[in-house]
Amino acid sequence: MKSKIQQLKDEALALLDKITDRENLEVLKTDVLGRKGKLNELMKEMMTLADDERKVIGQFANELKGSIEHAFGEKEQSIFQQEELRRAEDEWIDVTAPGNFSDAGHVHPITQAIAEIEETFKKIGFTSVRAPEIDWDYYVFESLNMPGDHPARDDWETFFVDAPEGEKGKIVLTPHTSNAQVHVMESQKPPIRVININRTYRRQADIRHLPMFHQFEGLVIDRGMTISNLKGTIDYFAKTYFGPTREIRLRPHHFRFTEPSFEVDISCGMCNGDASLNCRLCKGGWLEIGGAGMVHPNVLKAGGLDPEEFSGFAFGWGVERTMMMKEGMNIDDIRVLYKNDLRFVRQF
Ligand code: DAH
Repeated sequence: MKSKIQQLKDEALALLDKITDRENLEVLKTDVLGRKGKLNELMKEMMTLADDERKVIGQFANELKGSIEHAFGEKEQSIFQQEELRRAEDEWIDVTAPGNFSDAGHVHPITQAIAEIEETFKKIGFTSVRAPEIDWDYYVFESLNMPGDHPARDDWETFFVDAPEGEKGKIVLTPHTSNAQVHVMESQKPPIRVININRTYRRQADIRHLPMFHQFEGLVIDRGMTISNLKGTIDYFAKTYFGPTREIRLRPHHFRFTEPSFEVDISCGMCNGDASLNCRLCKGGWLEIGGAGMVHPNVLKAGGLDPEEFSGFAFGWGVERTMMMKEGMNIDDIRVLYKNDLRFVRQF
């Protein structure tokens, strides 16, 4: 009997020694120490022994049981420790390692151009305003000296909104940013020095035109404003935005809301204004950039100002076109700006 118990212990410890994981340990434990396990079997057998013999063997068996249980306990402990070590290794985090940065991208080239134009005018005291992008006919045409049936309106191929007319006429998608002029005069007193950059819409689409584009409109009103102020401002913008070697030129033109009116040209960055080079980008060394002029007395009146007391100048140019005239841009089709082709957009 004694040797049977001894044998059980030796076998159990030998098996225990080989075990390295929790599952097998549990199996062995039930097999040896469980309610229906081998040790209990032996204990049951012991009941058949004579009293004094049973006492001796019983004591021996209990000691053995104690030492087997102890061995199992130690094994359990060491498996637990190993599991912990393994987990620490697997789940290890280097808190000092640099993080994973998400691919944040950058703003669209036109958004960049808008910010740069705004910044350029800010430096000489202009503040930004935002006139409505969908506005009344009154602000877009009527108040700008273009009454109801005036043929000059045809130059702005306007989208009208299918909505009831109000006191100020129909609702339109603004075809230019000049609608800011009377809005501003209604809300501020001179000296006025503002820039309005916004989306504009016209029924047009080809390599030089888009149905949706952007314009920036400058408006300055004060006492004693002259064409010199207009020229100085435009020259400053050209040299700051395009570069110090660029020149400007004013050509007489006609707009209903300015008198006199001009087309503004900027010397070409490709041929440096040299007409003899027959540059393919410009016309005789000049690029046409947009309109400008001295604010018409009727527009001042519409804004509640006395043209005898105040004078001012205004200019309105396309953002896309202006941006495309920057040196090295080489964009030959305006529509590429809104194709959302990342190969294009990522170059900026
Ligand atoms: N609004 C005009 C256009 O869209 C451009 C323009 C011309 C704006 C002369 C002005 C200006 O402020 O004085 O073609």
